[in-house]
Amino acid sequence: MVAVSNMADLTVEDGVAVLTIDNPPVNALSAGVRVGLTEGVAMAAADDSVSAMVLICAGRTFIAGADITEFGGASTGPSLHDALTAMENCSKPIVAAIHGTALGGGLETALVCHYRVADAKARFGLPEVNLGLLPGAGGTQRLPRVVGVAKALEMVTSGVPIGSEEALASGLISEIVEDLRGGAIAFAKKVVAENRPLVRIRDQNEKIDEAKGKPELFAAIRKSIARKTRNFKAPEFNIQCIEAAVNSASFDEGLTVERSLFTELMTGEQSAAQRYFFFAERMAQKIPDVPKDTVEIPVNKVGVIGAGTMGGGISMNILNVGIPVTIIETKQEALDRGMAVIRKNYENTAKKGRISQQDVEDRMGLLTGSLNMEDLADCDMVIEAVFENMDLKKDIFGRLDKIVKQGAILASNTSALDVNEIASATTRPESVIGLHFFSPANVMKLLEIVRGDASSNEVIRTSMSFAKKIGKAAALVGVCPGFVGNRILAQRQYQAQKLIMEGAMPQDVDKVLFEFGLPMGPYQMSDLAGLDIGWDAEKSKGETIRDVLCEAGRRGQKTGAGYYDYDENRNHKPSAEVEKIILEFSEKSQNVRREIDEEEILARCIYPMINEGAKILDEGIAIRASDVDVVWVYGYGWPIYRGGPMHYADSIGLDKVLAKMKEYGELTGDAFWEPSPLLVKLAAEGKGFKDFAG
Ligand code: CAA
Repeated sequence: MVAVSNMADLTVEDGVAVLTIDNPPVNALSAGVRVGLTEGVAMAAADDSVSAMVLICAGRTFIAGADITEFGGASTGPSLHDALTAMENCSKPIVAAIHGTALGGGLETALVCHYRVADAKARFGLPEVNLGLLPGAGGTQRLPRVVGVAKALEMVTSGVPIGSEEALASGLISEIVEDLRGGAIAFAKKVVAENRPLVRIRDQNEKIDEAKGKPELFAAIRKSIARKTRNFKAPEFNIQCIEAAVNSASFDEGLTVERSLFTELMTGEQSAAQRYFFFAERMAQKIPDVPKDTVEIPVNKVGVIGAGTMGGGISMNILNVGIPVTIIETKQEALDRGMAVIRKNYENTAKKGRISQQDVEDRMGLLTGSLNMEDLADCDMVIEAVFENMDLKKDIFGRLDKIVKQGAILASNTSALDVNEIASATTRPESVIGLHFFSPANVMKLLEIVRGDASSNEVIRTSMSFAKKIGKAAALVGVCPGFVGNRILAQRQYQAQKLIMEGAMPQDVDKVLFEFGLPMGPYQMSDLAGLDIGWDAEKSKGETIRDVLCEAGRRGQKTGAGYYDYDENRNHKPSAEVEKIILEFSEKSQNVRREIDEEEILARCIYPMINEGAKILDEGIAIRASDVDVVWVYGYGWPIYRGGPMHYADSIGLDKVLAKMKEYGELTGDAFWEPSPLLVKLAAEGKGFKDFAG
């Protein structure tokens, strides 16, 4: 065995050179790997005893892409482009042997090999779009030449990988082999013995020729992704590259288009934010004072208290991964209704073809309904999801303490209440934690894990792993009203209310935030959630706009009217009645209404969120700024191409954020605009939230 670089070695076996890449954890294309590929190919080419080469990877996966940590810095060693050109032009056949995931630059590396074989579980994809990029090493030019234009468009715009069977059917791989190394060597020998040609994908034009003169292929994908990819640059650029593959006079011309669009994305703000977020999500898993090897509590059975919208959604997450759930209600009717909703949701998913009817039955088979809390005695985790009332929650936790086996996790889905107070109702506060799911709980990716003062390391670590298991992105936060997400939201909602009192209308505020990239503005959000959440008809005295709207029966989408009017399809339009109410309120509070421009609306909604984020960091409620961003991207749909509120602040510059805070403080005379000491400090030091180390 010869070491080709610090990340690659070469052995020759029976005339076949086997180049093994070893760069844990995911064999990213770091400089040492690029050296290994370039030199390894040169060595194999120069060795007369070698007639073919196999490229294989050690560890859990084939090459999973470029090394994202190298992006934005000075590049060392051979470029990926040079390494791949050397491989493609090699005079001896190269066979890629693929296991795990061949992603991004990894798949592009496989595509310059002359043949590809894989094990049955391998997956193949170009997920660069998720990083705000496109495959910049020929992927957009080679993939459509193998799998066809329609499939390639789907793969580059969704980033979703395909499996071995589909890869085999589409011609992406030649064989599925059981013993990867042995199978790949045998395949290489066969290529030599049968004198098969050196297949260079760049020269295969049949599948792209089929798409020539068919602009409808591109129109169809643009239409199908339009809503989901609003404001994103990368999906459109990926499409343009494949258009170039089809319409260019030569492969190299298409490659030039790919190179130019790649550079534009790579140097742009969207990709910088998306790459930042890739690491933010992974960083959130790391809890400095909870060791990685903390023993976890096996979670094999879960109890959920409350079969309403939240309890049902939470249960579905757990059933989806094959863990039995016992769901508790106080009345048979509510239990039946809750369980029927779960079944209906599954049936709808099955109708869309996303799961089979058997899956529906299997999942429902894991669900048990009960009116008796005693049935939770042997659960490993119980999640309480009743409405937000401290007395009720304490009563439930007091009862759970007496019923549920010792060592089990007792979790509350509270969105704002004091987890320490809830824990105080038990004799085992170390077992209590907050698991705050976001509505709809079976869809939204965020799980805010709220650590009480006494929550044990085992309970925290298990909750983090449990989140991953059920497909959620977790962020660990501390106890304070509203935790991270809702506490920041409250600041934005406060300013949104001020803005309509001073001169804007709900639709003006919503338009600005929608265009910024949020799925909806504060008023559409209120209408969706229901204006009467937390509103008490008995106590309402028409003192706020909300009181008046609720009293008038305008309680949001569910009543066909709220801040907006709704038609039967729930399409909204501005409401003359609401505008009148707002004007009356403005007048009563002696506000002189004025024109408020879009820049002011945006700044007044967003900067207070940043300021609150700074306070949250200062108080130790979040471990790091990027955790706040994880909460806002996955819990509230903050546009990922803006990284999250804290990254956004860093990209503007904290000095500018601070200056605006002061400006609005002077303009409105409202103490609300007092900046957080941390914001002031970091701005004075010329630093960003990324530099905050707790
Ligand atoms: N570069 C650098 N580090 C990477 C990486 C990459 N491409 N992919 C993963 N890592 C790191 C992660 O940050 C993580 O590090 P820590 O353990 O320090 O947190 C570690 O590898 C393990 O990653 P995961 O926790 O994500 O492990 P997983 O098993 O859940 O998933 C994976 C593995 C599917 C490969 C996933 O990591 C992934 O999707 N990676 C990104 C793949 C990708 O986007 N590739 C395209 C890169 S861009 C490109 O290739 C451009 C081009 O055209 C040349």
